[in-house]
Amino acid sequence: MTAAELDALDPLSGFRDRFAVTDPSVVYFDGNSLGRMPKQAAESLKQAIDQQWGDRLIRSWGEGWYDLPQRLGGKIAKLIGAKTNEVLCCDSTSVNLYKLVHSVLSTRPAGRNKIVTDTLNFPSDLYLLQGCARQFPGVEIVVVDSIDGIHLPPELIESELNERTALLTLSHVAFKSGFRHDLHRLTQAAHDKGVPVLWDLSHSAGAVPIDLAACQADYAVGCTYKYLNGGPGSPAFLYVRKDLQELAENPIWGWFGQNRPFDFSLQYEPAPGLDRILTGTPPILSMIGVEAGVDLLLEAGIEAIWLKSHKMYEYAYGLWQSELQPLEIGLGSPNPDQSHGSHLTFAHSEAYAIDQALIQNHKVIPDFRAPDGIRFGFAPLYSKFQEVERGVEILKQVVESKEYVRFGGEARGVT
Ligand SMILES: Cc1ncc(COP(=O)(O)O)c(C=O)c1O
Repeated sequence: MTAAELDALDPLSGFRDRFAVTDPSVVYFDGNSLGRMPKQAAESLKQAIDQQWGDRLIRSWGEGWYDLPQRLGGKIAKLIGAKTNEVLCCDSTSVNLYKLVHSVLSTRPAGRNKIVTDTLNFPSDLYLLQGCARQFPGVEIVVVDSIDGIHLPPELIESELNERTALLTLSHVAFKSGFRHDLHRLTQAAHDKGVPVLWDLSHSAGAVPIDLAACQADYAVGCTYKYLNGGPGSPAFLYVRKDLQELAENPIWGWFGQNRPFDFSLQYEPAPGLDRILTGTPPILSMIGVEAGVDLLLEAGIEAIWLKSHKMYEYAYGLWQSELQPLEIGLGSPNPDQSHGSHLTFAHSEAYAIDQALIQNHKVIPDFRAPDGIRFGFAPLYSKFQEVERGVEILKQVVESKEYVRFGGEARGVT
């Protein structure tokens, strides 16, 4: 089928109009990094500024601001197969990860001193683990190597889980290759060894079906500015399974995690349930920007989104085989019949220069991931098959003509 035919048959095609697409000639493959802006987000923010901040002022705290972390968390919970009271929208992914890792280490049974993770994980997650481990003498980090930088068979992770493991923490979908771990299998394997699991869902939430309840996952974090389309720097989310919430120890005590903050008691007492993980005043305007994107995903349904994502992946893979592989452009991602997420990475030694040529000369916007990755992210609510076709066509042209040569040099800034 041609790209035009696939777009014509796409049941989600109507959702593209619900996003601001100010320049239709831009081919946007970065929804896995910063999602497009839902038109409703702009409306909601305008309303919040004019009516809530502008007019209602502090009264707005009692008219929907104060419980935003819980209310938005309840909506995000539906995207990841969690219960309403198991998810909060708050802080950043990094801060949430820190709080949960710290909590696990503070409350771990004696003798469990190893954190298991892998080389496919987001480097910042590893920095967080390194920083946290320093605060707990004796705690070590085991980083399982993926070997090819693309895949990581579950057996390699499983072989590191034992009675000395305090925590298994992984990115569900790897930021660079897009490889997707078997969340159910690894959660079960960890539980069999008495090990809690913390999943980073940043590259899967809103794109891939996730059922945290079905596998009794312990903890998760994720961001809202990628597939959830919450806007730059929008607050993240965290999940703690219901029965673990009362045991959780927030390392950053503050009044939003206090039992009765407006008693202004001089002694901290954690709030019941998940609220104890909160710390300070939430960024209300940024939180208001999150809701519209989540609503759109819930309206479309994650199964339909995944179906299209997988089709786009297969389509892009087919084009890679016929158009790009002959030019010695490699594949830095799994094959479509292997476990994958919603972005596909092409590999070339001049990836940075090629990426810049695509962006600056052709308005085709992927991103570059060192050392050799060009990532094409598919966001099924607004990405089109014809964009994939055009993106690959231009990529081929840029490589064949060597047009990228003058964009060479050291990668700088946000890539
Ligand atoms: C998988 C993953 N984890 C964590 C982070 C860090 O998120 P933040 O900078 O919002 O804390 C990112 C950022 O892109 C990410 O992709």
